[in-house]
Amino acid sequence: MPAKPDSVAPPGAPKGTYRIETWGCQMNVHDSEKLAGALEAEGFVPAPPSCEADVVLLNTCAIRQKAEEKFFSEAGRLLAGKRRRPGMILGVCGCVAQAEGKALLERAPHVDFVLGPRSAPAAVADLVRRLRAGDESARGTVNLELRDDAVRFPFDRIRRDPGSPGKAYVTIVEGCNHRCAFCVVPKTRGREVCRPMGDVLAEVRALAARGVLEVEFLGQTVNSYRDEDGRRLGDLLHAAAEIDGLRRIRFTTSHPAQMTDALIDAMAAARPKVCPYLHLPVQSGSSAVLSAMRRGYDRDGYLGRVARLRERCPGVSLGTDVIVGFPGEGEPEFRETLALLEEVRFDTVYAFAYSPRRGTAAHELADLVTQEVKLDRLARIQALQKEIQAERNRLWLGRTVDVLVEGTSKRRSSEASGRLPENRVVNFEGAAAPGTIVAVEIVRASAYSLWGHRVPREP
Ligand code: SAH
Ligand code: F3S
Repeated sequence: MPAKPDSVAPPGAPKGTYRIETWGCQMNVHDSEKLAGALEAEGFVPAPPSCEADVVLLNTCAIRQKAEEKFFSEAGRLLAGKRRRPGMILGVCGCVAQAEGKALLERAPHVDFVLGPRSAPAAVADLVRRLRAGDESARGTVNLELRDDAVRFPFDRIRRDPGSPGKAYVTIVEGCNHRCAFCVVPKTRGREVCRPMGDVLAEVRALAARGVLEVEFLGQTVNSYRDEDGRRLGDLLHAAAEIDGLRRIRFTTSHPAQMTDALIDAMAAARPKVCPYLHLPVQSGSSAVLSAMRRGYDRDGYLGRVARLRERCPGVSLGTDVIVGFPGEGEPEFRETLALLEEVRFDTVYAFAYSPRRGTAAHELADLVTQEVKLDRLARIQALQKEIQAERNRLWLGRTVDVLVEGTSKRRSSEASGRLPENRVVNFEGAAAPGTIVAVEIVRASAYSLWGHRVPREP
């Protein structure tokens, strides 16, 4: 008797379900989009919320101890799931995978494979296929290759978040050639490789043709971009700004020592498509601490970059990262950081307590600042920045601004949420389609948020 049509697997029926958990920076978020694309090309589909998946990937972050701990507790939790369903495949990707390698398998033997951030997108599909086919030699694979072709992942395979159709990340640099004394990234992501500019532009054109309004170029040191023909980030900004349909271009993260006059001029020339926002991590306001951190600039050098930016791009918003409690940071050095925040008046500050990382130069340094002092300094940074931000945000009151809608507000489901070109989040009453740009008049501002009413767009 012929089988009933619905009992036969249709051609192209899913091979199974997958879930990816992601920690860390935008690079990791985007790597997860590549991992998802690689699995979907193999015939897997996302597992529905609250259902167990056949393939689980943990895309990990090693930047601070806390991030690493979160991963180990999640891996422990998944052990129970794996006991219930022995066929489930569990892979660990990202920076903890790279830093721990084989040791991770010893600590978490239920993990099926370990893939570093520069090998995972290209390697994951084959491993999953072999494990599903019962090839036991695939189990326990550790692949930490720092592949140069990581920048050449086929972009039509990337599975971008359907929840934010207006924005897309685009990798332009992989790895980092700096050796900041506190940072594990050069170890986990390897030396810098830049993607050919033609590839980058082809991806941006394809995204714009699909209705994407904003792209964000990604690199750990995005402003060191130089393709094989010597073209720099400024050239890329100029060329991308010519692409029809694209409305906003961002890039992150920039290193202050490579924020050249030429790049600042290129940013200014490519306005308004290049957004008036720059994330420029300062790390410390003390030249002595910056030198110990091996950042490659001092306090005055940093302030000089800010002055130049503000002169050439009036109204530019600035964000930064600060580390408190780096070895050797005494109260006077810390006060220099506070003074720098007061002087620059950043729009956003991400402050972190220094976390010693194995394999970094600072790991061996003595003169450690106690956790108590670190937490006290964090609180003082946050209190100062709260005041500065409240004042900066009040400058928006009464202005009508373009908001690229991202979705519903996290706090209130009756409100929509989106971003200004300056990267500020704005919430406003009513619904609006994600991926569109609407006009909003700002009527309320606090230290952490802006709130407004939608208004008709001016002709
Ligand atoms: N490539 C970027 C981002 C590096 S990681 C850059 O050049 O800045 C993001 C931020 O994490 C850093 O800017 C730094 O402020 C923080 N960070 C890095 N390593 C850290 C550590 N060991 N302890 C605390 N914070 C750290
Ligand atoms: Fe890390 Fe410094 Fe590079 S913070 S990513 S080593 S620029």
